[in-house]
Amino acid sequence: MESIYKALLDGNRKWVQERLEHDPEYFNNLAKAQRPEVLWIGCADSRVPANQITGTNPGDIFVHRNIANLVVHTDMNMLSVLDYAVNILEVKHVIVCGHYGCGGVFAAMQNQQFGIIDNWLRVIKDVYRLHAEELDAITDMEKRFDRFVELNVIEQVLDLSKTSIIQNSWNRRNYPAIHGWVVSLKTGLIKDLNVSLGSSDSLPDIYRVSVNSQPRVHSVANTQ
Ligand code: CO
Repeated sequence: MESIYKALLDGNRKWVQERLEHDPEYFNNLAKAQRPEVLWIGCADSRVPANQITGTNPGDIFVHRNIANLVVHTDMNMLSVLDYAVNILEVKHVIVCGHYGCGGVFAAMQNQQFGIIDNWLRVIKDVYRLHAEELDAITDMEKRFDRFVELNVIEQVLDLSKTSIIQNSWNRRNYPAIHGWVVSLKTGLIKDLNVSLGSSDSLPDIYRVSVNSQPRVHSVANTQ
């Protein structure tokens, strides 16, 4: 334990040194501001770090990660990251990136209890229920698992589009585009699921938020 702990700090110093050798102004420039064009919502799994697998650098991607890359509408952490990325940083793309072999998705296919995490994984079980017909028809369990991972990402993209944060931004500036990707741990390659959305046109009516129905804080205050 001691050695990995020390290795992290050594690794940091080595990384800083390499960066400075390449560009003496690297950290001075990095410290000025961040202007990422992408928000990444990925799995917390240690094997799928956003920057490394996309060949990008610090400053390029605003990142939120949780177990099984979920968009849970009561998750204040996710909502805060999404709001900041969309309304302050004004990112152009939001990418939900899952991965094949996701332990969270696999656990959600089982009936075994794992503890507190069961409450988090229950959201993925809802995805299974929505697509039970398609998933149950896949007899090869590995293929069924792979498809479940993909459907989970697709549902999280839809869940993003249901938020007032995304819909208000679409109404105001036609951004961000939201996308669903899955990365293979076996090849390292990312598969674009081609489920990108840039407007609420295809969204079922029940999920649409009216532009005029935002809370009118001042009028409430005036009635008191
Ligand atoms: Co995972």
